[in-house]
Amino acid sequence: MAHYRMPILEETGYVVLDRFERVVDPSEWMSLEYVDWKSSGDTRFAPIASATGEIECNAFWHFDPPRDDKDGVWIDSQAAKAPTLVQRVKEVDARVGRCRVIELQPNSYADALYNSHLDDNNRRNPDGEGWVIRSFMQLTDNPDSYMILREDIDDPSTETRLALPAGAQLIVDSERMWHSVWHVDDKPRYCLINSFESGPALEKWLFERNPVAKVESAHMDERFARESEAEAQQRRAARTERYGYDPSRVYSEM
Ligand SMILES: [Fe+2]
Repeated sequence: MAHYRMPILEETGYVVLDRFERVVDPSEWMSLEYVDWKSSGDTRFAPIASATGEIECNAFWHFDPPRDDKDGVWIDSQAAKAPTLVQRVKEVDARVGRCRVIELQPNSYADALYNSHLDDNNRRNPDGEGWVIRSFMQLTDNPDSYMILREDIDDPSTETRLALPAGAQLIVDSERMWHSVWHVDDKPRYCLINSFESGPALEKWLFERNPVAKVESAHMDERFARESEAEAQQRRAARTERYGYDPSRVYSEM
């Protein structure tokens, strides 16, 4: 498969950008219509762009004709409630696929490892087009919560923890990097997520925002890490036994 991939993601599979500076009124995400959707952890989604412009979260290959995760259709009723979020996505002159706000309830580090998965961003992506990656923009201010990335879910040494203060902007090759969020708070976390096609327009936008491709993880107590790892791996193994396969290794539709 020959897709254009951005060199800046090659080393670590992610980049951290300057924080989004504009103030977003919380009503932009709180007034959206949310739907329950299978995902990692206790979550709901508010789609803003979908395959056909309906309020639903299905991957675009489920539709007739099936297609790849590009050219999402803006949902008028949702987009009208979130003008700053829509503008933020549209300001990148790249093709946009799924776009939604995710709501995640507080969880533990072990939960995050249990929920970690790979996305299915490039099914039906035609040869010669750009590799589809994910953009994350943190909405709530959760500086003690982390996006947990791993190159190998079974190898803690491959982990990076990216803090999630309000406006944090991350670009992740989420089909390569195992990912999930460890959310430490007593209220839900909200984040804007969308698919973008890799290409010169997206690269230009990235380079205007001082992309950092390698971030030092915040310190974590060794014993806590070891115990959480053991708990998560035990729960992952039990789930694999229950299903007869590891569902998190089957590329998810999230
Ligand atoms: Fe995901």
